[in-house]
Amino acid sequence: MQNEHSTAILFVCLGNICRSPLAEGVFSHVAADLGLSSDFSVDSAGTGGWHVGSAPDPRSIAIAAKHGIDISGQSCRRIADDDFERFDLILGMDRSNVDDLKASGAHRYRSKVDLFCGKAGLGPIEIPDPYYGGDDGFANAYRVIREASVALAGQAR
Ligand code: 4NP
Repeated sequence: MQNEHSTAILFVCLGNICRSPLAEGVFSHVAADLGLSSDFSVDSAGTGGWHVGSAPDPRSIAIAAKHGIDISGQSCRRIADDDFERFDLILGMDRSNVDDLKASGAHRYRSKVDLFCGKAGLGPIEIPDPYYGGDDGFANAYRVIREASVALAGQAR
């Protein structure tokens, strides 16, 4: 159940199979731990459409599972025009996600778009795309996403 003041957050990366599904799962988990589930509704999407309908990358599923979070049921989708209306915050994982979002959404929605870590108050930190790298990239993405999630969810307190 969402309360009437709940914040709808859309996490966005390029492919919607590595970073943003992790952000969706980790943020939900962190919000629940803080007793703040009803303050947020969350989803994720990609600016690119190569993997639409796929489950998250197995490496993202694995790093989430290692921390007790199940993201295996998520399904990749591409950002749609009405997302800019429906969501209160549209948070990119890196600067190019933010630039793509600002270029594709209508001008009046630009204030909803931000860098995830920046909005969380961690500074202009990007979460690098781990897709072509080793497992380190996924461990790093998890660590930064967790820290940003705790900081952002904590703002609702
Ligand atoms: P993500 O990683 O943006 O964190 O989901 C990527 C996954 C797939 C591709 C690029 C980035 N790709 O080009 O297929």
